[in-house]
Amino acid sequence: MTDHERRRERRRILVTSALPYANGAIHIGHLVEYIQTDIWVRFQKLCGHECYYVCADDTHGTPVMLRAEQEGITPEALIERMHAEHQRDFGDFHIAFDNYYSTNSEENRELAQGIYLRLKAAGMIEIRTIEQLYDPVRDMFLPDRYIKGECPRCHAPDQYGDACEACGATYSPTELINPISVISGATPVKRASEHHFFRLSRCRELLADWIRRGWRGESPLQPEALNKMEEWFAAGLKDWDISRDAPYFGFEIPGAPGKYLYVWLDAPVGYMASFLDLCKHEGLDFDAFWKAGSATELYHFIGKDILYFHALFWPAILHFAGYRTPSRIFVHGFLTVNGQKMSKSRGTFITARTYLAHLPPEFLRYYFAAKLNDRIEDIDLNLEDFAARVNSDLIGKYLNIASRCAGFIHKAFEGKLGNLSHEDDHAIVRALQAPAGEIRDLFEARRYSEAVRRIMELADQANAYINAHEPWRMLKDPARKARAHGVCTAALNLFRLLTLYLKPILPATAARVEEFLGIPALTWHDARTRLENHPIRPYRHLARRIEPAQIEAMLAASRDDLGDKRDERSRTRRGQAQQPRTDALEKEETAVETITIDDFARIDLRVARIVKAEDVPGADKLLRLTLDLGGETRNVFAGIKSKYKPEELVGRYTVMVANLAPRKMRFGVSEGMVLAAGPGGKDLWLIQPDEGAQAGMRVK
Ligand code: 2FM
Ligand code: ZN
Repeated sequence: MTDHERRRERRRILVTSALPYANGAIHIGHLVEYIQTDIWVRFQKLCGHECYYVCADDTHGTPVMLRAEQEGITPEALIERMHAEHQRDFGDFHIAFDNYYSTNSEENRELAQGIYLRLKAAGMIEIRTIEQLYDPVRDMFLPDRYIKGECPRCHAPDQYGDACEACGATYSPTELINPISVISGATPVKRASEHHFFRLSRCRELLADWIRRGWRGESPLQPEALNKMEEWFAAGLKDWDISRDAPYFGFEIPGAPGKYLYVWLDAPVGYMASFLDLCKHEGLDFDAFWKAGSATELYHFIGKDILYFHALFWPAILHFAGYRTPSRIFVHGFLTVNGQKMSKSRGTFITARTYLAHLPPEFLRYYFAAKLNDRIEDIDLNLEDFAARVNSDLIGKYLNIASRCAGFIHKAFEGKLGNLSHEDDHAIVRALQAPAGEIRDLFEARRYSEAVRRIMELADQANAYINAHEPWRMLKDPARKARAHGVCTAALNLFRLLTLYLKPILPATAARVEEFLGIPALTWHDARTRLENHPIRPYRHLARRIEPAQIEAMLAASRDDLGDKRDERSRTRRGQAQQPRTDALEKEETAVETITIDDFARIDLRVARIVKAEDVPGADKLLRLTLDLGGETRNVFAGIKSKYKPEELVGRYTVMVANLAPRKMRFGVSEGMVLAAGPGGKDLWLIQPDEGAQAGMRVK
């Protein structure tokens, strides 16, 4: 199908964002995804497509159960409270779900249990007995994160049951030395229990086919995600344990009393349940969107940390349960603030509510849009840049057009626009209408940063037009008054077009502009129309500049000096989206410790030549480097993949710590460390000695 045909057809689209956990507040890290999705959905609706956006709270699992218990309330009471809070936060950020539901709903129970039964009937469930750690005091099996003990590899104390934050090793909780239950402090015991496994190991062909067939000639996954899939295929797909033992807050497995569906099984089913609830209220046809072979479109927006669940388990489960598979999965990266992970001690772990107490929601929507693209890249909220960009683009360029010209329409022309009969006025309006198709394609492709750049170029053109014609000067000369009317009419037409282009990003502002212009809600079709001989209302300022004090106050309100340590233990996985799962606790930055010259002398820094650089299957951030130290060769894993491609490193010189004790990592032993500067991600620079340095030379 050509782009042109696609534009003309009325598409039927169902869109989801990942379901936030019901045990934590929405923060600006979450908002990247909801804002990204909401812009896309609003854009589709603006283009006249039939598009539904559903989401829900992800309510089940051990953390919700335990938190409710800590608060002395039922899980139902906790999730009800969180649901109200989440809904309010999303609403205030103008995230316009067509339905915001809960995974703890009857619809979800029926769908999830039905899916389980269909998988079983298809021979895709296997029951196996496995041994796990059990808390004899609390009478429950312990999830990995609720067990701590000494690392079996490096013997660091106080490590979680799945991975060591000191040496990076991953292991099974039964390997921990002197384990204790985080819940009761008791020593866990090993206990066997029957578990239900989904046979993902049989799904490789199906998944490969899903990728190959694609959706209307487009792959369901972005190139980076396809690479990940290849890595997972190469490593071999493992069956997935989809059951948990009581006590568990969730849905019981049909025919298996005391066994519950693991939260990650019923969570994505929550997409279906939320849509089913919408169908009941709106009289929509559920099957048209979910039955196998459906011609409607289904898109999931997710963060890169949950790709595994959405690109492997989810399509496989849908297929074997007799439903359609997703058309495409749109994956985004994490959010950093001022180049670093969000941190309570720095005040950059900002909840939606705290942000709203200090700044308007559309400013964040605009800034995220100005940063987002179709790739799985992390994006940075640099607060200084945020203020500068919003002030310059939204206040200085866009809104300025109306505030410069609207007053004249009321003062000199009785509040009514004139016409665009003068060639100059006509031409500038045409110039801003012409790129509508280009901007539309950029929104469709989720290349929002390019769309924003293009729209701001148009705002520059509009301002240049006003500067060149100086309507305020024309108005002083009665002979040129009519001309001033045309210029101001053109300017407000330009403002109207820019408002339309920005409408998916700034919906509330667009609504106020529509009211000011006295026009019905703008649709994409209005890029072709003009406003002439039309009365408008008096213009009221639509936004104020960001002052540095507002940002300071927001950081101060978010700052919590104990926060990072205290909350690290209870943070939800999605809360950690900015602090991925097994990352070590951030170091506090309160005091800069000094070291002596002797301490420094103990570090053996050497010039090293990169002989070989390779990707590490299964590792997000690591490259495997083979380093020549002047005769001696070292194998080093370096977290520099976000910045460097292996091929551009080969032959380069760098500096390494040569006497670092070898560290056993998940992927092998690392024999040293290379030095790089910068906060990470794309902002990373490998230290390079000047030309002439030889491999093995000591760095002093
Ligand atoms: O990672 C998370 O925050 C999960 N609550 C996302 C679930 S998305 C979907 F599968 F439900
Ligand atoms: Zn360790």
